[in-house]
Amino acid sequence: MENKVVISTDISQSLTEAIAEVKHDKLFLLTDATTHELCLPVVRDIPCLQEAIHITIGATDTHKTLDTLSQVWKALGDGGGTRHSLMVNLGGGMVTDLGGFAASTFKRGIKYINVPTTLLSMVDASVGGKTGINFNGLKNEIGVFNAPQSVIIDTEFLKTLDHENICSGYAEMLKHGLISNDENLAELLNFDLGNVDYRHLGEMVGTSVTIKERIVQEDPLEHGIRKALNLGHTAGHAFESWALTRKPYLHGYAVAWGLICELYLSCVKTGFPTNKMRQAVRFIKEVYGELPITCDDYEELYTYMTHDKKNTAGIINFTLLGNVGDIRINQSANKEEIFEMLDFFREG
Ligand code: GLY
Repeated sequence: MENKVVISTDISQSLTEAIAEVKHDKLFLLTDATTHELCLPVVRDIPCLQEAIHITIGATDTHKTLDTLSQVWKALGDGGGTRHSLMVNLGGGMVTDLGGFAASTFKRGIKYINVPTTLLSMVDASVGGKTGINFNGLKNEIGVFNAPQSVIIDTEFLKTLDHENICSGYAEMLKHGLISNDENLAELLNFDLGNVDYRHLGEMVGTSVTIKERIVQEDPLEHGIRKALNLGHTAGHAFESWALTRKPYLHGYAVAWGLICELYLSCVKTGFPTNKMRQAVRFIKEVYGELPITCDDYEELYTYMTHDKKNTAGIINFTLLGNVGDIRINQSANKEEIFEMLDFFREG
């Protein structure tokens, strides 16, 4: 699975080169309402984009639907798209996931390039070829693995983001810190998210995306080590699905809360050091606050976990840690352990 990731300091040059590398008859540019307003002006004048046919969809995860997907398919068809067309996805994880899926399925698949504009999509969603939409109340229920031709990361876009979107992406960076080494993790836990140093954050994005890239290259289809990237996501996706029908939160918030749960399980089941868990939990609670679940929500959260894509034969699958960087994939927990984990989450 090819996936060239470029950390760019000149978006015009990097995108021009990336587009020139892919022979195409028509070029499409996908944005959502937010990136159309805030990010399109940054790339609008790039000569190679003058020929592009623009497609704009609704912003936020509520639009990551079959309806929106069919709008994009229709726009590709109406715009004269063929199997030899190319699409550039300019946006956050919603745009790169849905755009990647639309491209992967239109006429059985056209090539695409991701230009992530949120921290979350820079360090996670745009890299690694996971594409898809939400369906039947479940996150990313329908989708395919299909990598973009390239990913162009320009950290200047980070300046367009509000605090919540920075924190959301930062949760995936914390995850990458936890699965890599103590040094990376310490740098992340010492960073001041209340007063962002964008130059320093840009450097940390480079480190973070390299951690993900290495893992994806080793195991693009998630048969083994790529499951490391699921740390925090079994509980996290359950929190996200739970919140979807109440007060939706950005993905990274759910992941951060999922990390609290799964670090606790790691202490109990795989010997993760309690002091390191406490340090990470303190940071997460300070930055992300609390999710207002009660014990009346446990059954529902447990049901969401049983629907997780990562499960096999009904056994709930977790990625846990024996220590920072000591990854233990394919761990399971029973209902009682999961309820105890949720007790810790609420009261820990
Ligand atoms: N977001 C986790 C992965 O790409 O595997």
